Amino acid sequence: MTRIIRLSVLVAAGIAVAGIASAQSNDPLAAAVKARQSHMQLYSANLAVLGGMAQGRMDYDAEAAQAAADNLAALASMSQRFYWVPGSHAGAVEGTRALEVIWTDGGIGAEAEAFSAAVAGMQDAAGGGLDALRAAIGPVGASCGSCHENYRQSNN
Ligand code: HEC
Repeated sequence: MTRIIRLSVLVAAGIAVAGIASAQSNDPLAAAVKARQSHMQLYSANLAVLGGMAQGRMDYDAEAAQAAADNLAALASMSQRFYWVPGSHAGAVEGTRALEVIWTDGGIGAEAEAFSAAVAGMQDAAGGGLDALRAAIGPVGASCGSCHENYRQSNN
């Protein structure tokens, strides 16, 4: 009896996993959008730590600041090629704010490089005291903002 129950649980779990897999493979563009938005959410979660300290809403903690900056640098260094898929822009896929010019105007690489440079500056500064963190956060925020200004549909 126990064996039968175990088996049926396994079968049910297997069906659930297969269901998720086929939903994603049926809609690769939607999956790509979800993946890149998740990457952005990870940027946000780490920037929030640094921003909280810079603005005095959180006590400065060198180790935590360094960890957040290291996370940002690791994320910025990851290849995002599998989820910035041509054809997955706003208007073509539901739920995305990515503008089609990302794939046509040739400027996205420079935005990404500027962002990486700002994040590298933060990585050097974050563990070195609150003043250093504060000096480094402006360029990071400006870089997020610049890319959003140019390549993300505004919310209004
Ligand atoms: C090179 C360009 C670029 C950089 C740099 C960038 N973003 Fe984005 N971001 C985008 C684009 C494009 C979107 C829209 C993605 C979509 O909706 O498919 C986006 C979306 C987002 C979203 C919404 C995600 C969601 O769930 O819909 C957040 C939050 C975000 N970015 C935060 C950040 C933060 C914080 C930084 C800097 C630490 C940053 N981004 C840097 C281009 C960028």
